[in-house]
Amino acid sequence: MPAYSFPKDFLWGAASASYQTEGGAGDGGKGESIWDRFSHIPGNIADGANGDAACDFCHRFEEDISLLRRLGLKAYRMSASWPRIFPQGAGEINREGVEFYRRVLKCLRDNGIKSAVTIYHWDLPQALQNRGGWANREIVGWFKNYAEALYAELGDLVDMWITVNEPIIAAMNGHWLGEHAPGYRDYSHALLAAHHMLMAHGAAVKAYRQTGLKAEIGCSMNMQMEYPANPDDSRDVEAARIMMLHQNRFYLDAVYKGRYPAEFLDRLKARGVTLPAVLDGDMETISQKLDFFGINTYFSEYVRYDETRWPVFASAVKTERPKTSLGWELCPDGFFDLMKWTHDNYRPDKIVITENGAAGNDWVNSSGRVEDPGRREYLKQYLIEVNRAIGAGINIAGYFVWSFCDNFEWAQGLSARFGLVHVDYKTQRRTIKDSAYWLSDVVKNSGFDA
Ligand code: FCB
Repeated sequence: MPAYSFPKDFLWGAASASYQTEGGAGDGGKGESIWDRFSHIPGNIADGANGDAACDFCHRFEEDISLLRRLGLKAYRMSASWPRIFPQGAGEINREGVEFYRRVLKCLRDNGIKSAVTIYHWDLPQALQNRGGWANREIVGWFKNYAEALYAELGDLVDMWITVNEPIIAAMNGHWLGEHAPGYRDYSHALLAAHHMLMAHGAAVKAYRQTGLKAEIGCSMNMQMEYPANPDDSRDVEAARIMMLHQNRFYLDAVYKGRYPAEFLDRLKARGVTLPAVLDGDMETISQKLDFFGINTYFSEYVRYDETRWPVFASAVKTERPKTSLGWELCPDGFFDLMKWTHDNYRPDKIVITENGAAGNDWVNSSGRVEDPGRREYLKQYLIEVNRAIGAGINIAGYFVWSFCDNFEWAQGLSARFGLVHVDYKTQRRTIKDSAYWLSDVVKNSGFDA
């Protein structure tokens, strides 16, 4: 038995998302998304790239699925593109879009790979953005309508559903920090978007329960532990506590406890934030019972008090820990703390790690290999913690590496490579990286040795 062994039915997967991989921007009747719009505005994307072609998954999904199979991965996480299904966000459905996803899902099934479909991974139809997007409460209904169409059209082929990917990032990076589409910079606006995303999540789960479909449904939250930069400085300790509220508790309290943390809302209000209108029934909508809870996580943060960062007054500092090519710090012990914190505070029936992985500056060497020891080490260290969490009685049922292929990494463009598989964007040639071969052995052996 390997030193770190995993249950035989552990769900080993790799993850992706529509805008980041599909390409085919104008193909198949797809409508414009906020990411199509945002990535074409000069200055928004670090390397000037966009997702027009990305990894051309639209035309190469059979090749990608055969690579998944070759690596022995058991599951593939992908998202449906809302404007590929409803080019205008609502109204007439685009049959070509539906048929595309049916082909992909059938191909996965034929290859014995489970599908995990994210309903929303950030590519909102621009037509809905023009009507206020996530700041317009009507979006809850638009989203429910879209989710119901997916259940009806794809439900027979989907093994796991994920509602909204990372409400915090879509809300905050897109509406407070201005780094993601639609590119606003207003905390109050972001908080309103977050409330509507959580409602959309709940409304989609509620609607799913009416369908009679048996696949599991859950969410994917972006989470990380927030530690004080200087544990002896009470202001840093308080900053870390606030960041735990901002990053994690706001979302998990809503989903699992049916309320937002009052002390956080009071504090924001006192600092001049306009709080979202929470109407009767909203919290009930949000706090639906989930079949699994998805954690997306990459690093932990060490935070200090920062008087310039309204309204949270906290910001992260760099530490001496090793960093990936995006400067994200390795903190595997923080990952363990995060799983334990989630389990202790919210008791989800089941946790799935729906994203975890490392960015690298990877290339194909002269012998045709991609050597990525940093990623292998990252995966190993993080999987050791998953193993430890399972040993501690926390029900972690699966682990999805972000990402299957290198892809369009949002504001970072094509230069941050997260894939298990290298993509040459000029030729679209795929090369399996060394870390993927390592992971493939881990899957085969249900574990690994130190
Ligand atoms: C997550 C996103 C995913 C990917 C990784 C690196 O926040 O969900 O699409 O960009 O970060």
